[in-house]
Amino acid sequence: VCIACVLEQTWSCFRRKVASKQVDISRTSVKMSGLGRYQVLAVVLAVLCLLPAHLDAQSTSTDSPHRRHFPRLTQGDITEISEIINNLIESNVIEDGTHPYIAGFVRLIFHDCVGVSCDGCVNLEYGPNAGLAPYIDVLNRTYYKPEHKLFKRMSQADLWALAGIIAAGRGAAKGGEPLSTVFRYGRIDCSTSPDTNAEDVYPNANGGARETLDYWKDYFGFTYPETTALLGAHSLGRCHRNASGFDGPWTTDKDSLDNAYFRDIANAELGWRQEKLDSSHVQWVQSVGTDNMMLNSDMALFKDLRPDTEDPAGQFSHCTYAQCGYSPSAAHVLAYAKDNALFVRQFSSVFQKMIEHGYTTRAAGRDLYEPVPGEAYEGMPRAPKREVWERAGPRARPYAPEGGV
Ligand code: HEM
Repeated sequence: VCIACVLEQTWSCFRRKVASKQVDISRTSVKMSGLGRYQVLAVVLAVLCLLPAHLDAQSTSTDSPHRRHFPRLTQGDITEISEIINNLIESNVIEDGTHPYIAGFVRLIFHDCVGVSCDGCVNLEYGPNAGLAPYIDVLNRTYYKPEHKLFKRMSQADLWALAGIIAAGRGAAKGGEPLSTVFRYGRIDCSTSPDTNAEDVYPNANGGARETLDYWKDYFGFTYPETTALLGAHSLGRCHRNASGFDGPWTTDKDSLDNAYFRDIANAELGWRQEKLDSSHVQWVQSVGTDNMMLNSDMALFKDLRPDTEDPAGQFSHCTYAQCGYSPSAAHVLAYAKDNALFVRQFSSVFQKMIEHGYTTRAAGRDLYEPVPGEAYEGMPRAPKREVWERAGPRARPYAPEGGV
């Protein structure tokens, strides 16, 4: 307060001198004699004292999480942060024994990477992102936990990417194959992370074959085999009536990232048919077998669906499962259905591209780095501790509606 007073007094004194023409501002040299020597000294001292505090506040304040520069992460850092994420995943088990954060973290990094780049920002007010609040919330609280100080060490986008890799790695391991996606860091958060009001273009769950394949080609540059493998992420988790409005899991083990999704899509014996849930939701259900489901955009990888976009009541395809011809990516569905190792290899590689969307190793300032040059991080979790993750205190930035998974 005192320094502010001195500054203010000095400024008003300077203005008075200008007004009384003792300081001629049109000349290059300012006549200093009118200004007290001590006042000038006080200004210099004040600037010197305040500057470091200002810089520190900028670099550590939880109110302004937008930081471009973080220290380099070591392999030790990655291992430690991976364990924090593993403990989070372990801490949330539901009645059927599955871990909802596995699917949630994989979906979160996908939604973060839609748009210009993976930037640690998701618009929770925007329809396609419905259901992501609990996952953002838990990672955001972890990010600002004083004991980890992650907010000083990495961007939110990097934390979400690492969480996605750990989660997908656990899923793939459960399915019997290793995920080979590596973690590189250096993603840059948007200035309002984790919130944003951006309304990016997300893929249409009701879309047919052409629309689904074109989306990934146009926005991410993915080939048909890549897009097909990537959507195998839907072997994890489920749809929620209170989020997207669709209902049910795609496969029976919601924690396992494997080719069950492709095996089911290609299995005519399950008696796939379209069912209307309500005025705006139609999904594929099995006539025999389980309560598992598929979206149009899933089925469109195998069958050449052309949903009736004129039909506001739902998105019925023009053909039944039996009548529909094969879609341009059908051969890849069959290949992954036959070979889980092939699927996980392809998934690992396209997932790598997706979680680095908007970054390049060429453009200055947008590079991603290996934790230790030359040593790729395997992405596989260490054996998780079964200790219960203690809840962080009050949220650093309350923004998400309450609600567990
Ligand atoms: C054509 C592209 C895609 C469409 C239309 C789509 C659509 C959807 C929809 C409607 C849900 C249900 C959300 C809910 O009700 O909670 C969902 C969930 C999910 N999506 Fe996608 N998705 C697509 C691509 C992807 C990709 C590329 C990934 C990851 C690589 C992914 C991972 C997931 C996961 C893991 C879930 C389950 C989330 C949970 O259990 O909470 N999806 N997706």
